Amino acid sequence: MSFKTILVEIHERVGLIRFNRPDALNALNGQVIAELNAALESYENDKAIGSIVVTGSDKAFAAGADIREMAAKTYPDIYLERFGDDWDRIARTRKPTIAAVAGLALGGGCEVAMMCDFIIAAENARFGQPEIKLGIMPGSGGTQRLVKLIGRAKAMELCLTGRLMPAVEAERLGLVARVVPTDGLLQAALETAASIASHAQVATLLTKEAIHRADELPLAEGLRFERRVMQALFATRDQKEGMQAFMEKRPAKFSHD
Ligand code: CAA
Repeated sequence: MSFKTILVEIHERVGLIRFNRPDALNALNGQVIAELNAALESYENDKAIGSIVVTGSDKAFAAGADIREMAAKTYPDIYLERFGDDWDRIARTRKPTIAAVAGLALGGGCEVAMMCDFIIAAENARFGQPEIKLGIMPGSGGTQRLVKLIGRAKAMELCLTGRLMPAVEAERLGLVARVVPTDGLLQAALETAASIASHAQVATLLTKEAIHRADELPLAEGLRFERRVMQALFATRDQKEGMQAFMEKRPAKFSHD
């Protein structure tokens, strides 16, 4: 795969994607989104990849949608070209995704990070939905995922003021799973992703799916779904191997089937 606005690397079973527009603080234009989606598609189709890390630079995960690209557009332009429809591919990946965020995660950048399964943040990370200062509003989940993750009062405050939230506050509110030293961010994210990728793949993907169902289903339906898929895992070779390895007091060797 060769791209102009992202860098991709494979670290054993982990697929890494880095936004790479240093001159624009990794602002997300149409090309970045298209390349991100192509890389995700390729990792999704590669059985050897067990998890995916998305990151930026030390200065910016991404400073939002590209304002220069959007500025002159009219409502019919934006509506007819279905602006935003292709932004949420990452929210629909079956494989686990980690956003490793250093520096700025603003607007669409914060929204893409929230589309990942969880965020590991560097100490210098700052999150925000500053769209209101541009005369628009969040359009890729900022008013929806943020409410679910940090509650209505904080989501209102961030979206209506555009203020930037430091990593320590984001961790306290549950927006990020963990804060790590800035120079250790990528290593921490890759190690976490490698640990996830080492587990039985079918069980991992179904665990992820069940947790996402919790956002959408009433509790009784969610519990029924969880029980059915847990039972179904007894049809996998990895369940036999995992339990056999436990009884033999040795590490499991999963074959991901
Ligand atoms: N789009 C396009 N270019 C951007 C950008 C963006 N979102 N954010 C930064 N850049 C560019 C700047 O224009 C600048 O380029 P030049 O050197 O060519 O002028 C370069 O990146 C560096 O930025 P600054 O000089 O502004 O850096 P700074 O450290 O002084 O300020 C900042 C950093 C506060 C993040 C400031 O750049 C800023 O406010 N950026 C815009 C943030 C924003 O509003 N994001 C939301 C966009 S809308 C959106 O995301 C909604 C959606 O999904 C549709």
